Amino acid sequence: MTTLPYPRLLEPFESGRLKLANRLVVLPHGTSMVRDGNITEEDIAYFEARARSRPGMIVMGAIIVHPTSSLRGHHLVEAYRTQGFEMLQRRADAIHAHGVKVVGQLVHLGREMIGGELNYAPSAPSAIRSPRDPFVPHELSQREIATLVQAFAESAANLQSTGHDGAEIHGAHGYLVAQFLSPATNERTDAYGGTPEKRMRFLLEVLDAMRQRCGDEFVLGLRLSADEEIADGMGIQDTARVARELARLGHVDYLSLTLGTRGSYVKDVSSPLAPAARAAHIIRDACGLPIIVGQRITTPDVAERLLANGDADLVGVARAVITDPDWLTKAAHGHADRIRPCIGLNQDCRAFSPHLHCATNPATGRELLPEFGANRPTATPRRVAVIGGGPGGLEAARVAALRGHKVTVFEASDGLGGQFLYASALPHRKELRNFIDYLRGELRHHRVGVEMRTRIDDVSPIKSAFDVAILATGAVARPVPEEFAAERVISWFDVLANGAPAPQDNNRAVLVDDGSAFWWTYGVAEALVEAGWQLLIATPSAAIAQHIPAESANALLARLGRAGTEYRVLTTLYEVASDGAHLMNVTSGEEFVLDCGLVVLQTGRAPLATLAESFEPSGMEYHMIGDCVTPRRMSHAVFEAHRLASTI
Ligand SMILES: Cc1cc2nc3c(=O)[nH]c(=O)nc-3n(C[C@H](O)[C@H](O)[C@H](O)COP(=O)(O)O)c2cc1C
Ligand code: SF4
Repeated sequence: MTTLPYPRLLEPFESGRLKLANRLVVLPHGTSMVRDGNITEEDIAYFEARARSRPGMIVMGAIIVHPTSSLRGHHLVEAYRTQGFEMLQRRADAIHAHGVKVVGQLVHLGREMIGGELNYAPSAPSAIRSPRDPFVPHELSQREIATLVQAFAESAANLQSTGHDGAEIHGAHGYLVAQFLSPATNERTDAYGGTPEKRMRFLLEVLDAMRQRCGDEFVLGLRLSADEEIADGMGIQDTARVARELARLGHVDYLSLTLGTRGSYVKDVSSPLAPAARAAHIIRDACGLPIIVGQRITTPDVAERLLANGDADLVGVARAVITDPDWLTKAAHGHADRIRPCIGLNQDCRAFSPHLHCATNPATGRELLPEFGANRPTATPRRVAVIGGGPGGLEAARVAALRGHKVTVFEASDGLGGQFLYASALPHRKELRNFIDYLRGELRHHRVGVEMRTRIDDVSPIKSAFDVAILATGAVARPVPEEFAAERVISWFDVLANGAPAPQDNNRAVLVDDGSAFWWTYGVAEALVEAGWQLLIATPSAAIAQHIPAESANALLARLGRAGTEYRVLTTLYEVASDGAHLMNVTSGEEFVLDCGLVVLQTGRAPLATLAESFEPSGMEYHMIGDCVTPRRMSHAVFEAHRLASTI
């Protein structure tokens, strides 16, 4: 007899009103594929693709309950406007068609102005400014509080009337409900503040009003930050106390738990797996309510382990299914090794440029574009040569082979992965390898030929044996410019390729960014710090780590900060002399000399495009993708690879 893989993950769950086909919950994540507060066709297609894998329940990303929380850009769904109802219903129907429960998360942002100005003054229990935003919020009056309580109830009723199975109150991550609960943001002395019980009052009034409006059948959930991870904020025991009281009152059907507040709740790859598991276990034991635990649950193995440990009743994932909509199907069919992995850098899912994308899956957020929909088999199979075995080349090979082309990859070195291989040796970057391993496995599965240690120097060996060539030759680091060449000066890539040198007599180092303000510089910074250098980072930008999304940048800066890293913004290097590195403020011209034992330069990269010179006059069909066109991020290469390979 064969046993089912992941028996706990795949078993049904039933507790009171909550009845789910299995224990996987897709956690709320807004796609920003929203126009004027209304859901778009693209958003529906995105969620329908995730519903096909049949998780037990999908919680829709934050839905605004009242105009005082609406953003000028209206890129969050608004539950209080009747013109949005048709699309709310259509999205719920599209998900229900796959037997999946749909819950809508309801939020008022309070003092937080996420990514844009609000249409009204920010408001909060107390007039305490968010460290992330410029304005002190208006302190809500009791009359305004009563209005917002009704707004939550009204919006829950709107979800109910548009086919949702339930509503989840967003009481986590530092938004309005959390602002009431937390002593860090609630200094009221009236009935809504002063003691833990009074700080719960707003939440309890919201729950009461919702239950009254929506009746006994409707699921009501609550999301809480088990630990807010801020000074004077809610800790695990505080949250356990709230949970116990909620269980006593019988108000909620489940609690969904993570750690952190805005800016820290989408834990990046530097966080351990399932960091909220312990907190979830403690709170589950304290209250007995059904618990969803989320955050960095990347594989079905991790999910199964949490359930086996009794950490939670249900496992929640967001990025795992942003990356692979078929995550659960693959797990259920014993193909977990074929799940497209999330590399946890938040780069394309949290940048909202202008909406949800994914670094490793270019189809995410593009479900309705023909190049990224179901891969259509080709009517005319061709012999395709892919030159370069980095992520772009491998993705191109994968998609072309999937469509029925006969594909061979040529890689000059003895390892697949290109620059990604180097990057994966940096601190906290091991998981980058998972993506290369996945692509390698897919090539094997689709019988793609891989010729390692095979350098292609011109068109002739390709033209004679193939119909089309894809050049994915990548880029090469630029060397240290002549004017800075000195014994103690190396490039960022020297650190990547050879590791960080060990400090000798002078352990001070300066790392000079070129304004790209990305991991190419900051990943190297971490390697230098780990090797024992006392680091100063100089950058011509006005901000540090400017092009890294907040959740990853905040964690990075905390690590560098703990190691005593210093910064000089608006600064560049103009000379390396015997007394050290001469730095200059790019706006004022002020000079500064740092006596140091090492200078590391971000020299940037140059495209490796010479092969095109041989292909161009040959008449052979060829295409270029990724860094050999011009160096950018890995996601650009993978996106171009997928788009091209689905059309040749
Ligand atoms: C693109 C994106 C949008 C998100 N939007 C919301 C949201 O609207 N409400 C919410 O409570 N959490 C939101 N989250 C947080 C997720 O629900 C989840 O807690 C977090 O991503 C950690 O889980 P994961 O490691 O499985 O991604 C969002 C996360 C992502 C990546
Ligand atoms: S963009 Fe990166 S972190 Fe976000 S889901 Fe995709 S792989 Fe994961």
